[in-house]
Amino acid sequence: MTESGAIPIAGRAAECPFDPVPELYEAQKDEELRRVTVPSPMLGEFDAVVLARYDDVKSVLADGGLHMGGSMPYQAGNLLSYDGPEHTRLRRMLTGSFTARRARELKPQIEGAVEAALDAVEKAGPGADLVQLFCAPIPTQVICELLGVPYSDREEFQRRTQVALDFDISREEQMRQAAEMEAYMAELVAQHREAPGDNVLGRVVRDFGDQLTDTELAGIGNMLLIAGHETIASTLSAAIALLLRHPDQLAVVRDDPSATEGAVEELLRICAPATILPRQAAGNICVRDREIEEGERVVASVLAANRDLGSHDENLDRLDVRRPPQRHLTFGFGPHQCLGQQLARVELRVALPALFNRFPTLGLTVPHEELDYRTNALVFGVDSLPVTW
Ligand code: HEM
Repeated sequence: MTESGAIPIAGRAAECPFDPVPELYEAQKDEELRRVTVPSPMLGEFDAVVLARYDDVKSVLADGGLHMGGSMPYQAGNLLSYDGPEHTRLRRMLTGSFTARRARELKPQIEGAVEAALDAVEKAGPGADLVQLFCAPIPTQVICELLGVPYSDREEFQRRTQVALDFDISREEQMRQAAEMEAYMAELVAQHREAPGDNVLGRVVRDFGDQLTDTELAGIGNMLLIAGHETIASTLSAAIALLLRHPDQLAVVRDDPSATEGAVEELLRICAPATILPRQAAGNICVRDREIEEGERVVASVLAANRDLGSHDENLDRLDVRRPPQRHLTFGFGPHQCLGQQLARVELRVALPALFNRFPTLGLTVPHEELDYRTNALVFGVDSLPVTW
């Protein structure tokens, strides 16, 4: 095992926040596995084996010998808090609600959410912050549909969600908002117990309600809210920022509907909001034929794995929305692979072309270098996108 210094937790290069730091490319070439010190604002400094090759990351995510490893506080009902049979049992209760067909069925509601957000941008401008008015409200509206949040509660729900996810708001205020959201979720669960609606939470209550406590149901609601909101808002913000840097690529997304699916996969590959996936070895395990000891932390770099050349010699740092499909691990792999990936794809495929068609002259009001990229956070994105048209 090679010991080497610290790598910033997200491993993003200072010159271009979309690219990995050179150390991750070096780690990709190493025959030995690298152990690094990871300075994490959330978990404190810790030592971990860093994996940067596509095949290593994939095999570790598929391996039942690694668990989620206390990388976040335990929360009843949150799939990311469970491993093994407990995880499988809970996940099975939700998979039927997240098929590709279900995601397609939600398309009219997604189109409605996108049109409403575009109207709000148009009304506010010319000149608006797209994160506030476009990237954040769309996934919130979609989550409201999924959870069966009544229309009368949506404004308040959206306000709370935005506060809970706003990095500029103090920790105390965020905790207060999170507690309010939990209380709201408990109330929503009580309503669905009374009269299960035709939505994800309603279906889980109807089909599995007798196997789940109210706390677990509220936890499922909170997990879907966080997992389905921040990731999409962040991907949208990063993808828009990246496309504004590359007008030729933006023009393809705007003008060629046949390119949309491929373009969204390419943007997902490059923007990958969940930059690293942390794990811990539940017993001694092997990656290639190197041993990782029980209890050791492992950091799987999705950012690096998505640019692993393998046997190819293409430049995978470059955005090319017409590129033939490339493998990527943006939605993870194995037992915890993203449950909402089909839904995420539909949201991105609807939102991005619609934005550039409504505002064909869209441009930033600040230089690209001045955008507030969240380079060191666990979820990569941009905090605000001041634009005009
Ligand atoms: C671009 C958008 C999204 C990205 C990049 C993303 C990425 C991911 C990744 C990487 C994981 C695996 C985490 C790990 O293995 O440690 C994950 C899990 C998960 N995602 Fe997503 N996600 C997105 C959108 C969504 C949406 C829209 C939903 C639902 C509404 C969702 C629900 C979940 C859930 C429930 C899990 C946990 C699955 C499990 O542990 O079994 N995600 N996501």
